[in-house]
Amino acid sequence: AVATASGSTAAEDLPVTQRIVGLLSGRGSNFQSLLNASAAGLLGGNIDLVISNRTGAGGLNIAHDAGIETALIDHQNYPTREAFDRDLAGVLDSRSPDLVVLAGFMRILTADFVERFAGRLLNIHPSLLPLYAGLNTHQRALDNGDTHAGATVHYVTGELDGGPPVLQARVPIEPGDDAHTLAARVLAVEHQIYPVAVKWHMTGRLTLIDGTLRKDGVALPATGHLWEEPL
Ligand code: GAR
Repeated sequence: AVATASGSTAAEDLPVTQRIVGLLSGRGSNFQSLLNASAAGLLGGNIDLVISNRTGAGGLNIAHDAGIETALIDHQNYPTREAFDRDLAGVLDSRSPDLVVLAGFMRILTADFVERFAGRLLNIHPSLLPLYAGLNTHQRALDNGDTHAGATVHYVTGELDGGPPVLQARVPIEPGDDAHTLAARVLAVEHQIYPVAVKWHMTGRLTLIDGTLRKDGVALPATGHLWEEPL
C-alpha cells in the first residue's frame, strides 16, 4: 500500500469491497444466515441491496432492520416475464454486483437474464440435486421412500435448478417425517452451507468455464462438494 502525505492509505490501494445483491420472495431465513455471516466477516463481501418480487416478504423486514437497502419489484406489475427481468437486470447492473444470491427467490428467470449474469448467480435449492428440481421437493422425497434429503447450492443456468452444484448437504429422513418436519431439518443445513458457498465464490475459489465447475482448480462432482459438519 502507498501512504499518502497525510499518512493514510491511498484510496486506490485499499481492498475493493465486493458487492452482493440478494433476491428473495418470502420469509428470508437464508438471507438472515447470509447476513449473520457477513456481520461476522465470513462472507467475503457486503450485501448492498435486497430485492423482493413480493410485497410483504419477511426478508425485506430483515434487511430493513439491518440497515440494508431494499427494493420491491413486484412481478404483478409486469405484463411479461421478459419485462420483469429487464427491470430487475437494470437495477442489478446499476450496482455491478460480484454476486447475486437467490435466497428463496421463487421466480423462474429468463434465458437472457441468466446469460447476462452468468457465473454471478447462486441459488439454494431444498433437495439433493439433480434429484427433485422444481417445487414440493420434500413431499416428493417422502413419496419415493428416500432415506435422505438435503439441500444444494448451485450456479444458475437456463435449466431450472440444473446449473452446476457447488455444495450439498444431506440429512436423514426419519420415521414419521412429514414435509414440514423434513423441511425444517433441511433448512437448518441450508443455513450452514449457503454462507460457505458464497464465500468460496467471493474469494475466487470457484471457476466455471465451459460448464465445468472447479473448486481450487479441481473439478467438482455432479452433486457439488459434499458438506460435512465442522468438528
Ligand atoms: C428455502 O428452503 C429455499 O431452499 C427454498 O425456499 C425456501 C426459502 O426459505 N428455495 C426454493 O425452493 C427455490 N426454488 P427462506 O425464505 O426462509 O430462505
